Amino acid sequence: MHIRPLRADDLDLFVGATPDQRIEVEQYLESMFAAGSMRPEWCFVAEEEGDRPLGRVAFWTLPGMEEPFALVLLDVPWEGDYMGVGTRLLEDVLEEARALGAEEIEHVVDDPPMRPQFQHHPEKRVELLKDVGFAFRRGTGRFEWRGGEPPAVPGRLSFRTLEEVGEDAFVDAMREVSEGTLDREIQGERERLGEQRAARDFFEDARRVRHDPAWWQLAFTPDGELVGLVMPAEPPGFLTIFYVGVVPRMRGQGYVDDLLAAGTAALLGAQKRDGNDKPLLADTDVANEPMASAFDRVGWARFAGRREYVALTPDRGQPTAL
Ligand SMILES: CC(C)(COP(=O)(O)OP(=O)(O)OC[C@H]1O[C@@H](n2cnc3c(N)ncnc32)[C@H](O)[C@@H]1OP(=O)(O)O)[C@@H](O)C(=O)NCCC(=O)NCCS
Repeated sequence: MHIRPLRADDLDLFVGATPDQRIEVEQYLESMFAAGSMRPEWCFVAEEEGDRPLGRVAFWTLPGMEEPFALVLLDVPWEGDYMGVGTRLLEDVLEEARALGAEEIEHVVDDPPMRPQFQHHPEKRVELLKDVGFAFRRGTGRFEWRGGEPPAVPGRLSFRTLEEVGEDAFVDAMREVSEGTLDREIQGERERLGEQRAARDFFEDARRVRHDPAWWQLAFTPDGELVGLVMPAEPPGFLTIFYVGVVPRMRGQGYVDDLLAAGTAALLGAQKRDGNDKPLLADTDVANEPMASAFDRVGWARFAGRREYVALTPDRGQPTAL
């Protein structure tokens, strides 16, 4: 068995590894290539000479980034030697990710499995991930907007766009609202990088995701005190609330609903203007109960759960729990 990246002429081999999911996988690859989140040479197959591939996996990243961020479309013989094939495949691609500059790689397992990743056999997947050094990072609830009129935005706050307040004020607000977050990933980054650098990195990551700058807004009370912020965005294939937060001194007054309503209305406005049917999807840490309740109140519905795993790429040693 050997592991190799795709050549320009054998994309079909990668897609054909799961014949019953051919159309969805093909469409997904096309849209990710177009968005700059994936590339043909970032798609890998495990094969025996002359045979149909035994397994496959690909790198995904935020548009415009040079290093891989996550593994997607992982499939190995789940009813056969999934550990043997999977271990070889994942060890090889983790080394490749390292060579491309990635320090860590994420992989998510959704429950229930859904297109385009179709993550059937979740327990075998997790067994394989752990065997090659992935550690559990956090569980999230996945929410979707199920249609209907845009939520009304209560009039008690005034909003100012990123362009109006400037980048420094915006990043500063991101730092403030992240204090005391119940989101383990954001908290982990604050501990790892310090609050200022974490806010700046988060802003830069968000900036790589397509968005209308007028969507990113800070909200203030009538006497000018900062309440929080909302950052809607359009990653490849869907629309989302990339970040929303309330500064600690303003928490507990339901302001998150105002921010979420404003963000949702902006996304629905864009959907209508562009005449597309992209879904509105968002994830929140299962530990972030106030956030999950707010999604619920504003009209979003929980449709799935997600487990996020992360591995440090080779030569930084074994992963630690994040
Ligand atoms: C999640 C968040 C936006 C909620 O904002 P909010 O306007 O305070 O929400 P609510 O007013 O509905 O709060 C509901 C309850 O949760 C409590 N709560 C809110 N945030 C809390 C936090 N970070 N830690 C502990 N309790 C919190 C409130 O005090 C309130 O308690 P009460 O019912 O006893 O009065 C806010 O906590 C926040 O900005 N967190 C950091 C950023 C973040 O995690 N964003 C989401 C990432 S996707």
